[in-house]
Amino acid sequence: MKRFIDLRSDTVTQPSQEMRDAMHKAVVGDDIMGEDPTVRKLEIMSADITGKEDALFVTSGTMGNQIAVMALANRGEEVIVGDTSHIYNLEAGALAALSQVQTRAIEVPNGVYDIRKMEELIQADGIQNARTSLICIENTNNLNAGFVVPLENINAVCELAKENNIPVHLDGARIFNAAVASKTPVKEITRNVDTVMFALTKGLAAPFGAILAGNKDFIAKARWMKQRIGGGFRQAGFLAAPGIVALNAMSPQLEVDHKHAQILGHGLSKINKLKVDTSRIHTNIITGSVEDLPITIDNFLEKLLHMSIKAKKISNKSFRMVTHYGIEERDLHEVIKAVGDIIDEL
Ligand SMILES: Cc1ncc(COP(=O)(O)O)c(C=O)c1O
Repeated sequence: MKRFIDLRSDTVTQPSQEMRDAMHKAVVGDDIMGEDPTVRKLEIMSADITGKEDALFVTSGTMGNQIAVMALANRGEEVIVGDTSHIYNLEAGALAALSQVQTRAIEVPNGVYDIRKMEELIQADGIQNARTSLICIENTNNLNAGFVVPLENINAVCELAKENNIPVHLDGARIFNAAVASKTPVKEITRNVDTVMFALTKGLAAPFGAILAGNKDFIAKARWMKQRIGGGFRQAGFLAAPGIVALNAMSPQLEVDHKHAQILGHGLSKINKLKVDTSRIHTNIITGSVEDLPITIDNFLEKLLHMSIKAKKISNKSFRMVTHYGIEERDLHEVIKAVGDIIDEL
C-alpha cells in the first residue's frame, strides 16, 4: 500500500502492535451489566489520572461532551461556550438538537476567557431568564490551533463558576498535549473543574473512544444518559484495551509530536511568502497560509497530495498540519522540501 505522510489530524494514527496485542487478549464481559473488567479498569485508571471519583468510557469526544451537557443542564437553560470551541462549532448542532440548551458563545482568544465579560453574561434565575447552568472550557483549545490555556485562566473560570454555583465542564480532548506542553500533571489541570472529557484517539493514538470523568453522582447520571442515546456497550473490553495501553505508554510520544511540530513549523516558516506563525505552535498543530502566493489553497493541497502528503484545508487561504504517532523526523524534512519545491515552481 502506498504510504502517505498524513498530517490532516492526529486522529489518523494506526494502533501500535502493543494495542493490537492488548485487543486480542482482552478479558471482556457485558458492560451494560457492569461486567466488563477491561472497560472498568480503563475507567478506574482514567478517574485516577484526572483526580475525579469516577469515569465513564464513551464512544467519542462528542458523545462525552454532549452527555456532560445533558447531565448538567436542563432543556432551555444557558450554557456558556467559547466561540471557537469544538462543542459549539463541530458537534453537528448537538447542543441544540440533543441537549436542547441555549448557548452563549464568548470570544476566547487563544482559548482564554475574559473573566469580567463572563461575569457580566452569567444569567441568574429570573422569570425571563435562561438561567446559566454550565460553563464549558477547552484545553488544548483546538479549532486548528492547539493552544495551551494557562492554568490561571482555567482556575479563574472555576472560581467565578463556584461563586455562582455553576459547574464547569472541560473539553480536554487533547488534555495530555496540554499537560506535556505545560509540564503540568493532568490532575492539576482538572483539579477545579467538575467534569472532564478526554480523547483516547488523538495524540494517544488509540483506535477508539473517549473518557468522561467527574464525581460518582455525575458519572451515574452520565452512564444512564449514555444508555439513553444508544451508547451502551456489551463486550467493549476489546475497545478499552488499547485505551489502557494508550494511557500507560503514549504520553512520551506527545513530547516527540510537539518537537516535530516545531521542526516542521520553523522549516515551513522559512519558505518565501508562505505564512506560518511559529509563535502559535503550542503543541502538535501547525497552521499556514498561502495568501501571499499565486496559488489557491486547493491547488496547493492537490500538489502536495501528488507528492504523497496530506494536509487539511481550514479556510480559503489556509491549511493545517498535525504531527502524531507514525510521523518520523525524516517525514518533516520531506514535507518542508516538497512545499519549498511547489512554491519555487510558481
Ligand atoms: C477539542 C475537541 N473536542 C472534542 C472533539 C470530538 O472528538 P470526537 O471526534 O472523538 O467526537 C474533538 C475532535 O477533534 C476536539 O478536537
